[in-house]
Amino acid sequence: MANDRQIGGATYTNDDERFAAIERAMQENDYAEHGLVEVLITAQKAFGYLTEDILTFVAEKLRVPPSRVWSVVTFYDMFKLGGTSTTECHICNGPTCSAARAGEILAAVCHHAGISQPGQTSADGRFTVKESACLGLCDQAPAALVNDKALVKLTPDDAVAILEGKGQPPVVQISGEPRILTGPIGRIAPLDLDAHRAEGAFTALQKALFEVTPEQIIAEVKESRLTGRGGAGFLTGLKWQLGYDTPDMQKYVVCNFDESEPGTFKDRALMEGNPFRVIEGLIISAYAIGAIKGFIFARGE
Ligand code: FES
Repeated sequence: MANDRQIGGATYTNDDERFAAIERAMQENDYAEHGLVEVLITAQKAFGYLTEDILTFVAEKLRVPPSRVWSVVTFYDMFKLGGTSTTECHICNGPTCSAARAGEILAAVCHHAGISQPGQTSADGRFTVKESACLGLCDQAPAALVNDKALVKLTPDDAVAILEGKGQPPVVQISGEPRILTGPIGRIAPLDLDAHRAEGAFTALQKALFEVTPEQIIAEVKESRLTGRGGAGFLTGLKWQLGYDTPDMQKYVVCNFDESEPGTFKDRALMEGNPFRVIEGLIISAYAIGAIKGFIFARGE
């Protein structure tokens, strides 16, 4: 089906190896249905696309109806259905990008791909062009996503380069003072754990686990009047208190990194530039409310 492809540092030279990789992803999720999206991502990385054969294999192995698998694949825009390793261009049509000529870019990309309108695949199967909702890159609009690669500050003249996945990658842009959570961004490599620890990362977690009680943590967060960064501005301490007060339930913490409100993106910079602090906060909140697991939710884009 596909040529050699790399996934997680491994190269797959034939379909048996690719199906084995999919099966390993299922094993890692105990063949549970909740691992379906992860399994499908593995399948797409291994093959470059998803076909009826692949989806049937997944459905049979997970013992779920094929309709369930198809509903997931057709719901998420970033899954590629088809038998060729096509280049997928998602051109943002959010308001910020639209104001920055994204419509013209979309038209130019469609023209050079040889298709008449977004949503189509070129006759030779090389390109699929789609419109996308906000990509969370409004500060560097107009933006596009070509396969897994984000490109920013595009113009209609970039249409050919966009189809080749070439162009300016996004950079994390920070401004304003004082910089607290954003302090290390641009100074310290995001994944340099030692450097982040030298600046105090995980000391709050240490204090939370060994020096104070969950009740004291919640009281301090309440007193700070820290709020969520979404539109509701809900008080974090109150949210944690409600979680703590919920009795006799298995609790989870979900860190919502979904960035889908045009112009109001705010979490991407933290996750990309200071990820250990995000994880530290997640663990502290889990400890405070008595959760046993934490999840970070982010869109593929
Ligand atoms: S509107 Fe295009 S990235 Fe947000």
